[in-house]
Amino acid sequence: MIDFFRRALGKLDRLDTEQQRELLVSAVDEINLLENVLDSIDVGIFVCDENHNLVKVNKFAHRLLPLGHNEGVHIWHAIEDERIVEFVSEALLNRDRIIDKEIDIFFNGRKKLLSVNILPLVQDRKITGSLICIYDITEKRKGESRLRRAENLAALTTLAAGVAHEIKNPLGSISIHLQLLQKVLAKANHSKVKTDKYLDILKEEVDRLNKIVVDFLFAVRPMTLDLREGDINKLISKMMEFIQYEMEQSNIECRLELEENLPKILIDERLLKQALLNLVKNAQSAMPRGGTLTVSTNCTENEIKISIHDTGNGISEENISKIFEPYFSTSKTGTGLGLTLVFKIIREHHGEISVISSPGEGAVFEITLPIPQKETRLLGYIETGQMAEAGVKK
Ligand SMILES: Nc1ncnc2c1ncn2[C@@H]1O[C@H](COP(=O)(O)OP(=O)(O)OP(=O)(O)O)[C@@H](O)[C@H]1O
Ligand SMILES: [Mg+2]
Repeated sequence: MIDFFRRALGKLDRLDTEQQRELLVSAVDEINLLENVLDSIDVGIFVCDENHNLVKVNKFAHRLLPLGHNEGVHIWHAIEDERIVEFVSEALLNRDRIIDKEIDIFFNGRKKLLSVNILPLVQDRKITGSLICIYDITEKRKGESRLRRAENLAALTTLAAGVAHEIKNPLGSISIHLQLLQKVLAKANHSKVKTDKYLDILKEEVDRLNKIVVDFLFAVRPMTLDLREGDINKLISKMMEFIQYEMEQSNIECRLELEENLPKILIDERLLKQALLNLVKNAQSAMPRGGTLTVSTNCTENEIKISIHDTGNGISEENISKIFEPYFSTSKTGTGLGLTLVFKIIREHHGEISVISSPGEGAVFEITLPIPQKETRLLGYIETGQMAEAGVKK
């Protein structure tokens, strides 16, 4: 098309007014089409001239980044995120070609992971400016880590379920024989204090091994859920009551911020409580000198969100991608299976779990549980008073 316009321009003086008008209309249509394409793709695009002035920015860029001024100013005056500005200006001034530089930003109340790409804009074999393409890779990255976790679990299941099963039997036998030995030694009148001490240690160790195996098998075996309509707020309130005393002893103030009238959804109360308890226990361990634990719920049309927020040690960037992996633990006494279990329980409920944390700033674990669409519709009918029309009897 561009060749057509170039040729037409070459003989512009030979065209009559009507032909010139047609040419102009075609050019406007062409520009319109290109602008539509630019605004329809889900990549943030910035075009700069050779002096780094912003010449063009598409609509999607406004959804990715905080943008103040629009076209006509230096790109670093248009973008209102310090880290991106610093990176982009340095790259542009050094004329660096950037492929897939990952930068996280906080925008519109959410943490986003962006992939920034900076390429030279070439026209007639000359660099006439630069093209900055920014992709939102938050969901892609989450998907990848979910897949990795699922693969990890699957690999572990096949590899180690058998081994764990084999360990379990001899452990049972050791435990029984220790008890027998204890009785025999007691009868034979040995130095009871000493033998009892040794045997107690052995028993403790066996119990610990047994816990590891039981937790492991629970983590890798398929789960059968006992799903019943349940009230998430009630479950949380009961659980918090249960741990209240222990939290007080650890100098932890517990806060509940529960949204009223959450719809009831199908849950396995026992398992969900176990998942929440694991998260609360982790929060407690992260606050050895006390702090605040806030458990809140809220609800959108499609999902219920449960958030568990502590003011503890937080999690480093390096560790945050590993915490759901089996056996990852920074605690001396932990097995590192707690979050694996939590992940599995939430996944079995078709929900999702995510975490936001940085060292020294506490952690927020957020669980999202879907509300089945049928119920959403039913709620809608009730709210809009259309029950009769929908054929629902009171
Ligand atoms: N709220 C939190 N604050 C800081 N770090 C956390 C938090 N929750 C989890 N972690 C980190 O994630 C790791 C894994 O947690 P996970 O519950 O799987 O295992 P654990 O608590 O170490 O042991 P256990 O299997 O006994 O639960 C923890 O060791 C800790 O480093
Ligand atoms: Mg734990």
